[in-house]
Amino acid sequence: MSEVTGYSRAQIALHWGILLLLGVSYFSSDAMKSAWSAFHNGRDAFGTVAAAHLWVGVAILVLALARVALRLSRGAPALPAGGSKVTDTIAKLTHLGLYAILLLIPTSGLVAWFGAVDLAGEAHEVMFNLGVALVVLHVAGAVYHQFVLKDGLIERMRRPG
Ligand code: HEM
Ligand code: HEM
Repeated sequence: MSEVTGYSRAQIALHWGILLLLGVSYFSSDAMKSAWSAFHNGRDAFGTVAAAHLWVGVAILVLALARVALRLSRGAPALPAGGSKVTDTIAKLTHLGLYAILLLIPTSGLVAWFGAVDLAGEAHEVMFNLGVALVVLHVAGAVYHQFVLKDGLIERMRRPG
């Protein structure tokens, strides 16, 4: 499975497409937060922006499932040579964590909203913050490869191989 030499066109499109959609989720989250607290006060404040938060989140969930399926069926290139056991493990765990939160954030949001489950709403917030920490670590790794190691790692997520 790790014999592939690069990410496929679909894997690359999903990686960057989901990043864009995550931006929409983030910028629509205040409206969803207001709708959520209005719901608790017996009011309805579910407008267009909150609906965008919901549907873009559903799209992320579907695309993340497709991404995991591709990852399991096609695999991924081996990590770049030259890493230590520790950095390779951090990279692998970060990737695993990113896949997990891409599934868990929208799922917890859906359970909170459609099941009126407060705990799921809290989990949604906690997982979002955890996701931000993982993305910061992930991007720091990418920047380190690009500008310190200068091994052109980002090319692997730009050109299908
Ligand atoms: C990957 C997609 C999603 C991201 C990145 C995301 C992100 C966020 C963020 C940042 C907040 C504000 C939390 C805070 O103030 O700390 C939020 C709130 C909320 N989102 Fe999402 N969300 C996503 C998908 C969804 C989906 C599909 C639903 C389903 C309806 C949903 C329902 C909610 C609800 C109910 C809240 C209010 C929860 C609370 O304040 O406790 N979200 N979301
Ligand atoms: C500007 C932001 C980002 C940059 C520059 C970036 C860059 C990269 C690069 C270069 C790789 C390939 C690593 C390798 O070849 O070993 C990669 C893989 C990956 N990225 Fe990102 N990324 C970004 C944002 C994100 C976000 C927001 C997520 C998800 C929330 C994400 C999830 C992943 C995952 C799961 C992999 C591993 C793919 C696999 O091997 O299965 N990335 N990223």
